Amino acid sequence: MTTLDLFAPASPDAPERLGPGAFLLRGFALPCADVLLAAIAGIEAQAPFRHMVTPGGFTMSVALTNCGALGWTSDRRGYRYAPTDPDSGRPWPAMPEVFSRLARDAAAAAGFDAFAPDACLINRYLPGARLSLHQDRDERDLGAPVVSVSLGMTATFLWGGSSRAARALRLPLLHGDVVVWGGADRLRFHGVLPLADAPHPALGAQRINFTFRKAG
Ligand code: SIN
Ligand code: FE2
Repeated sequence: MTTLDLFAPASPDAPERLGPGAFLLRGFALPCADVLLAAIAGIEAQAPFRHMVTPGGFTMSVALTNCGALGWTSDRRGYRYAPTDPDSGRPWPAMPEVFSRLARDAAAAAGFDAFAPDACLINRYLPGARLSLHQDRDERDLGAPVVSVSLGMTATFLWGGSSRAARALRLPLLHGDVVVWGGADRLRFHGVLPLADAPHPALGAQRINFTFRKAG
């Protein structure tokens, strides 16, 4: 490295550190965005997006489906992972190879080796949809990170602390961005502000988010 390099601006693609175990990888999923989107059509044909009800009786504004050995569901009885889709009684669609490879590579880029997700939640946000601050804590294996991939409209991601009351950072998540959180940051509170109506050139007025977890 020359002396000059020390003063060069950080590469736009350098991981942004959000905590000891959390990184924002700008544009990491761009090379496989088209393949990911094409795979969604097959998944939603088998397991359509639906608005789940929370244990508190609220219908979620985000529509959700899953692929992988386990899928996350919510109803009046609580949140859980299950091998079958409660709407059809059939197993969730298999996780495409391109999904698990992207998740493993993103986790590795954030310092988490050999990430092997068995669950992929697919969230669809239309304008106005939001996700209030929460922790991802229904997974049995909290030693593995969460890998979140964003496509479509830009969202404002709330990156909170280890308590609900902690001040949350507001981070724009763009088409192709990936966030990875694990280790000391695995239980950080996070959420998404109501999605603005600013259509994406390729996807129109929607945002798709995939989160990969080791749930079982
Ligand atoms: C989630 O917290 O499960 C999804 C986050 C996002 O949509 O960016
Ligand atoms: Fe979450």
